Amino acid sequence: TKQIAIAIDGPAAAGKSTVSKIVAKELSFIYIDTGAMYRALTYKALREQISLTDEQKLSALLADTTIELVQGKDQQRVLVDGTDVTEDIRSSTVTNQVSYIAKHSSVRKEMVKRQQKLAQKRGVVMDGRDIGTQVLPDAEVKIFLKASVEERAKRRYDENVKKGFSSDFEKLKQEIEQRDQIDSKREVAPLVKADDAIELDTTDLSINEVAESILNEVKKAT
Ligand code: C5P
Repeated sequence: TKQIAIAIDGPAAAGKSTVSKIVAKELSFIYIDTGAMYRALTYKALREQISLTDEQKLSALLADTTIELVQGKDQQRVLVDGTDVTEDIRSSTVTNQVSYIAKHSSVRKEMVKRQQKLAQKRGVVMDGRDIGTQVLPDAEVKIFLKASVEERAKRRYDENVKKGFSSDFEKLKQEIEQRDQIDSKREVAPLVKADDAIELDTTDLSINEVAESILNEVKKAT
């Protein structure tokens, strides 16, 4: 396949990362999880007790932080300043705070810069909220994944059960709605479908059906 860029955006728990990994593997492309980068900074800020509303301190913190996405044995690992935080950044504390950090324009500016650098050589599948609109506006394929909040909460719930976490369905649903609300209403680079993105409602589709349909778009574009 031609080395193109595939941008996958959409609300929380819409299946972006699961599907992106499949598509990347199929095409032998690199998968870049931009949400993990915002999560990594949130994790470090919480640990250093920096207020999530203090934009100046947060952007200084980011300037002083290396975030690496590396391919581990069976999954991608996330390193902050060389330390593996792959599991830590998925905690509910980080999940429920990350959108406050992602609101700040100076933080986003630096993240976008780093993400664009990672995608420079193309041959990438990148997922997030602003990939098609800000990070890779010239991506050859842009997908906007959506699904009902009920279905997204159900998927997240099943995932948690599988991992052996107990979780409260109604609470999960509320947290997803809250995160979407903050991400969609923020002033800088809000979650919105790019004009030229293909919208896929995955509510009644299987993971493989979604992946197939994206691979089909890639075929058309290459
Ligand atoms: O994709 P994930 O759910 O891990 O993203 C976590 C959070 O990071 C999002 O809810 C959003 O606040 C922020 N984010 C963002 N822009 C991106 C990716 C993630 O603002 N490109």
